Amino acid sequence: MSNPVCLVTGSSSGIGAAVVDHFARHGYDIVINYNSGQDRAEAIAGRLRQEHGVRAICIGANLAERDESFRLVDEAVAHYGRLDVAISNSGVANYLKDEQTGELIRHRFHECPPEHLDREMARVLDLNLMGAYRFGQRSLKHMIDFASAQRQAGEEPSHRSLLFITSVSDVAPEATRIPYGVSKAGLNHAVIGAAFEGGPHNITTNALRPGVVDTPLTSRPSGITDPETGDEFTVAETYGLMAEGGSQALPWIAEPGDIAVAAYAFTQIPYMTGQLVAVDGGFTLAGGFPNRELFLNEGLRRRQRD
Ligand SMILES: NC(=O)c1ccc[n+]([C@@H]2O[C@H](COP(=O)([O-])OP(=O)(O)OC[C@H]3O[C@@H](n4cnc5c(N)ncnc54)[C@H](OP(=O)(O)O)[C@@H]3O)[C@@H](O)[C@H]2O)c1
Repeated sequence: MSNPVCLVTGSSSGIGAAVVDHFARHGYDIVINYNSGQDRAEAIAGRLRQEHGVRAICIGANLAERDESFRLVDEAVAHYGRLDVAISNSGVANYLKDEQTGELIRHRFHECPPEHLDREMARVLDLNLMGAYRFGQRSLKHMIDFASAQRQAGEEPSHRSLLFITSVSDVAPEATRIPYGVSKAGLNHAVIGAAFEGGPHNITTNALRPGVVDTPLTSRPSGITDPETGDEFTVAETYGLMAEGGSQALPWIAEPGDIAVAAYAFTQIPYMTGQLVAVDGGFTLAGGFPNRELFLNEGLRRRQRD
């Protein structure tokens, strides 16, 4: 019997790299997908083979391009002859950099020039939504084919799982990342639609919605400066401080391994499908009431100031 196979998009970095490590630890053969990080991907594959004794291959594909998601899944299936878990994880933030200075361009939403508005939205829709949508569709097709073949051979179809890494940004309000939130919220709908097609073939389809995770994605400057040093905090540092200040129930942000544990668990649950589950340390629970002192003091401060 061959090992089960797990394919993870964007597994050359951050959350995806931790996810492939966790599946390899549990005896899965792995397909790592990268875009710009071929060397990082090869190094991860080598480590998985050595430390966990599983097979691991790397396939480069820019999933923002029309046919690349289809090619990625087809190549993975052609290589291993099976697909048990497919995880759509590749993603980018909507922010664009100034071509001359390399600095992030920030506009308030209502002041954003039309061309910038369109480019930010296109950046995230091309990868986060369309790339993931095509990847999910082709993965589901292969999984249904495998299930049908098992049935024809007189076996019950084994449990297979499709998981989308979306984000709590689907609901978290933030005017500078509306396009990102739109891409993730759109993908959530594809998840609940696909669940009904996969169900009769024993394929579960879910979304894992991380809160803030310390990865290269959140190491970009946040626009907020440390009042003591004047240095700009990264996004991860800003949310880390907010967490310490009570913005979420667990007062720290996640490490990639925290999300990998959840991703593995969700794909092993045979009777959960069509669910959009937050793994966010309680970020989306936070309202005014748990932090009433903070908001009360701020309200008093503003009233005095005005
Ligand atoms: N970090 C967070 O706080 C957080 C929170 C909620 C949701 N998420 C989601 O989690 C996922 C992983 O994010 P991360 O934080 O781990 O970010 P990351 O470290 O920046 O990793 C992003 C991954 O996506 C890949 N990628 C980028 N552009 C691609 C393209 N055009 N085609 C194929 N792959 C591409 C990258 O590949 P290369 O490096 O090889 O180019 C990399 O492997 C994303 O979908 C993100 O939206 C993250």
